[in-house]
Parts: sequence; structure tokens; C-alpha cells
Amino acid sequence: MKILQDFELLFQQELHKLYDNDEIKAIFLVVIAEKLGLNTANYQLSKKDPVDDKNSAEILSILRDLKKHKPIQYILNKADFYGEVFQVNESVLIPRQETEELVDLIIKNHKFSQNLNIIDIGTGSGCIPITLSKHLTNARVTTIDISKEAIKTAQENANILKTAVQFINADIFEWEYIFSNQHYHIIVSNPPYITPGEKKYMNENVLAYEPELALFIEESTPLIFYDVISSFALKHLAPDGDLYFEINQYLGAEMKDLMIKKGFEQVKLIKDINGADRIIHAKKAW
Ligand SMILES: C[S@@+](CC[C@H](N)C(=O)[O-])C[C@H]1O[C@@H](n2cnc3c(N)ncnc32)[C@H](O)[C@@H]1O
Repeated sequence: MKILQDFELLFQQELHKLYDNDEIKAIFLVVIAEKLGLNTANYQLSKKDPVDDKNSAEILSILRDLKKHKPIQYILNKADFYGEVFQVNESVLIPRQETEELVDLIIKNHKFSQNLNIIDIGTGSGCIPITLSKHLTNARVTTIDISKEAIKTAQENANILKTAVQFINADIFEWEYIFSNQHYHIIVSNPPYITPGEKKYMNENVLAYEPELALFIEESTPLIFYDVISSFALKHLAPDGDLYFEINQYLGAEMKDLMIKKGFEQVKLIKDINGADRIIHAKKAW
């Protein structure tokens, strides 16, 4: 019978071509937390403990999936976001740390406001609308996605996390009629923003498993979602309302120009924790 430490060694041996040592260790700790209920401190104390056949088989099955480049979040069907656990599957993007930074900025900027009317465009797992709904007092949050499967997953997350979010399954290129009389204090979006040309720099685990619909835009129109959403914002932002975007780090300057040309003011380009251009925050000129 193998002891727990043998599995850590096996993970390092089998995954070293896919991940660096720290990532492998982090993934291993996630796996044993999930399968054996051990936190990091307990693991240090249990390294020499034997692992029974059932748990061994399950851990080895996870390792097989990891070797096929499958992200651990899709294997376990869960991802952490802003202190909560979200259900995920291959029809939704795995929530990213950059998006946590976007949500954190919005929560900090608006924590003293109440009864905000908010719309999020491109729901995915529901990480943005659900987190805003949880953290902003009495906010009314609506979110829209073209993917039925994404809406279904996000609805499940809203139920599990006990938040009341309104979900709309629609295409933002044909949506205007739905919102004709609505005004929002906050419009937020993390739309698809990767060009096909960037594929060569991306990891296999993203390319093979994450939904294309969530990631990619046409090479010739990299800002098309931002163009359409900011036109919507010009009509539907309430006075003094705020527009927030997560953006492609290589298009910061172009994004800022687009927003200024559209007539927004106080256009701020904000860097993420890694120093990359990542967020646009703008207000509508009145
Ligand atoms: C980059 S993902 C963001 C998901 C989630 N907000 C997050 O941050 O993890 C973009 C989302 O936009 C959705 N989407 C793509 N094209 C769309 C369209 N034309 N209309 C509405 N939603 C669309 C995708 O299905 C995907 O869920």
C-alpha cells in the first residue's frame, strides 16, 4: 500500500512537463484536500500515512486527467473565487484572479452605496454577478450570456450561494430590445478578448478545455464587444454611473482611445497584480 508522500512524488514525476514544481504542489494539495479532507498542516503530519485502495484509485484517476492537460477545476468541478466555491464545467470559463481584482475594485468603490442597479455582460460561471450581489447591499443584479449551459451553471451557483440574480440568455449583438427602459448604476463585463493569433502563447489546458465562445474574438475586430457594450452604456448608464471592463493586456492603449472617442470621461486604465493593463473604469460625460 502506498503512503501519501508517494503520491506527491508521483505527481511531481508525471506532471513536471506540464506545470512547474510549485503549481504541482498546489494542485496536489487541492486534490488531497478534496479526497482526504486534509489541509496543508495536516498533510505535513500525515505524509507517512497509508492511503486505502479506494482513495488511491481516485487520486490516480485525477492524475490521469491532469496528464491529459485537463485543468484541476474541471476535474473537481469547482473553482475558488473571492472566498466562495463556484461550480464549474467545460461550458464556463474558470474564474481568474484578474477577474477577482475587477470585482474587488467594484466592491471597494461602491461599498457604501445601496440599491444599485447592476448589469454584468458575459455571465460564465456567474462569478461576477453573484459576488457583487453578495457584497453590495440590496443591489439588483442582472446578467446576460449567449450560452444556455453557462446560464444554467451560473443559476446553480446563485442557488448554492443564496443570491438573487436575474439571468438572461441572449446574444449581446441582438439585445437592445430587452433593456430599452433600463438604467444601471454599474455596467460591468469581462467579454471574450483573446485574438486567434495569441493561441500560440497559450497553454494546452486552456485551449483544449475552456470554451472557445468565452475566450476568442475575430482577429480583425478585437474590440468589438467593448464597442457594442460601451454604446449600450452610453444609453443605459444612470447619471454618474460607472462602466468597468476587464481587458486584453495588450490592448490597453487602444481601449482607452476607444472609450475617449465614445465620449466617456475619467477613463482610467488600471494594472493587475502582475503589472499588466487589465481594467478600464470610465464614467459617462453629462
Ligand atoms: C471571458 S468569459 C467571462 C465569464 C465570466 N464573466 C468570468 O469572468 O469568468 C465571456 C462570456 O461571454 C459570453 N459570450 C460570448 N459571446 C457572447 C454574446 N454574443 N452575447 C452574450 N454573451 C456572450 C461567453 O459565453 C462567456 O461566458
